[in-house]
This record gives sequence, C-alpha cells and structure tokens, in this order.
Amino acid sequence: MSLIDEARKVRENAYAPYSNFNVGAALRAASGKVYQGCNVENVAYPEGTCAEAGAIAAMVAGGDTTIAEIAVIADSPKPVSPCGGCRQKIAEFAAGDVQVTLATMDGITHETTVAALLPGSFDADYMSRS
Ligand code: THU
Repeated sequence: MSLIDEARKVRENAYAPYSNFNVGAALRAASGKVYQGCNVENVAYPEGTCAEAGAIAAMVAGGDTTIAEIAVIADSPKPVSPCGGCRQKIAEFAAGDVQVTLATMDGITHETTVAALLPGSFDADYMSRS
C-alpha cells in the first residue's frame, strides 16, 4: 500500500469531534517500517494532538528515529498543510531533502520537502555553546 493510502486508511480512525477535520499521516522509517497516526482531539482543545505527532510517536515507540518519507491527508480543498509545530516535529527526525506528500481526499497531491516546509529551522547547532 502506498503511504498516501496508509494515511487515508488511518484517517478513518481520527478522533475529531470538535473540528470535524479528520487527518491521517503515514511515514516510512529508514528501517522500511511504516507508521500511521491520526489527530486525537480533546475537550480541553490545546490538549489535542495532530496526525503527524501520532505517527512520529508510533515510530519512536516502534524503535525507529529516522523518517525516510511522510504523507499527510485530509478532506481539504487543497493539499493539507502541516501546522508549524508538526513541521518542527518532522524536522527532528528527517533530513531536509526528505519527501513530504500532502494530499486531499479528492486525489490532489503536492510534493514538497522538509526543508521547504521549514526553512531556517531551529536545530541543535544553535545550542553548540551550551
Ligand atoms: N491537524 C492535523 O492533525 N495535522 C495537520 O497537519 C493540520 C491540523 C488537526 C489538528 C486538529 O485536530 C484539526 O486538524 C483541526 O485543526
């Protein structure tokens, strides 16, 4: 199954009763294993988590720490854009040239990269004097 199809499938499990905006994410780790995540909202709104965060948590729990490719899908009019926090979370585990596929449920896709989504990202180099 393609990463987009994996993301589409896990999106069905999204828990989004407040926004009604279901999101699915799937990533392939360097090991070849695929991990999925969906958004999980909470009545205390800031406690909700994004699909990408869920997929990353599953990846780390599964013993992987390198993202080779990632895909995100939602029922949006244009390919869904990861939030700022998720861009930083993805950048923690992915090189700048890692492919990111953003998709709509209608089959529109947009291919981009981690570096294009988060130019000038904060990384450990900035803490080299600490
Ligand atoms: N959301 C994600 O899960 N990923 C994104 O890339 C964008 C936004 C979720 C968070 C919240 O549950 C809902 O979409 C509306 O913001």
